Amino acid sequence: MNKIWDSEGYSLNFDFVFKYGRGVLDLLEKDGVKSILDLGCGTGVLTNFLADEGYQVLGMDSSSEMLEKARRDFPAINFIEADAANFELVNPVDAVFSNAVLHWIERDKQVDMMKCVYRALVPGGQFVFEMGGKGNNRLIHTLMEELFARRGYKYEAPFYFPSIGEYATLLESVGFDVRYAILFDRPTPLKGENGLADWLRMFQNLQLSQLSIRDREEIIFETVNTLKPELYSHGVWYSDYVRLRVRAVKKI
Ligand code: BEZ
Repeated sequence: MNKIWDSEGYSLNFDFVFKYGRGVLDLLEKDGVKSILDLGCGTGVLTNFLADEGYQVLGMDSSSEMLEKARRDFPAINFIEADAANFELVNPVDAVFSNAVLHWIERDKQVDMMKCVYRALVPGGQFVFEMGGKGNNRLIHTLMEELFARRGYKYEAPFYFPSIGEYATLLESVGFDVRYAILFDRPTPLKGENGLADWLRMFQNLQLSQLSIRDREEIIFETVNTLKPELYSHGVWYSDYVRLRVRAVKKI
């Protein structure tokens, strides 16, 4: 994941990520679960939520910007900096939890990540997660691609949004049993009158920063205006999210 994160802006304007993340915990079969690794913990809000629920937690992220804030806000929690596709835990955990992170891992590193998670779990341990699934932000990405091409740029979305079949196959290939999987639309309200423009500046900054300031501002303006009929309703902007939720279990 090669993105520089603005940890303060993320916490302030995109706190829906944490609110929805709490629902991911419902995927977990809680009997006997004591320890949880929060994979891609970001600023640690959900790691802290898991700790408040009574679990022994460990937060892991590859972004030092995010971890700096996490350690400042939650000094009692153990956070480590590591790459999700290349890590090892000294003590295996009962569950690995991940919210809105796995789509940032390149397709060709997904199996490496799954192998690391598998090794980090006790036998019977659970991998529960939510990520962007097939069709996630289709309106936004299709339009951005077109607007970049019109100006002579290639738009490369660094995300991986798999279908259930595709992802379950990868999980099974490393030894997981996929016990639950669902793909569903979740139009997600964004904050403020500039909700979509702010979302683009936060999450598309890697692609947008390659453009001239003029092209960048034009593309944001055109994206917002073009998508308004579909993504703005009764004073609220929405992101056209499609979520993939899964519970996979390491064989005993
Ligand atoms: C998401 O699905 O959570 C997401 C995908 C791409 C950029 C930002 C967020």
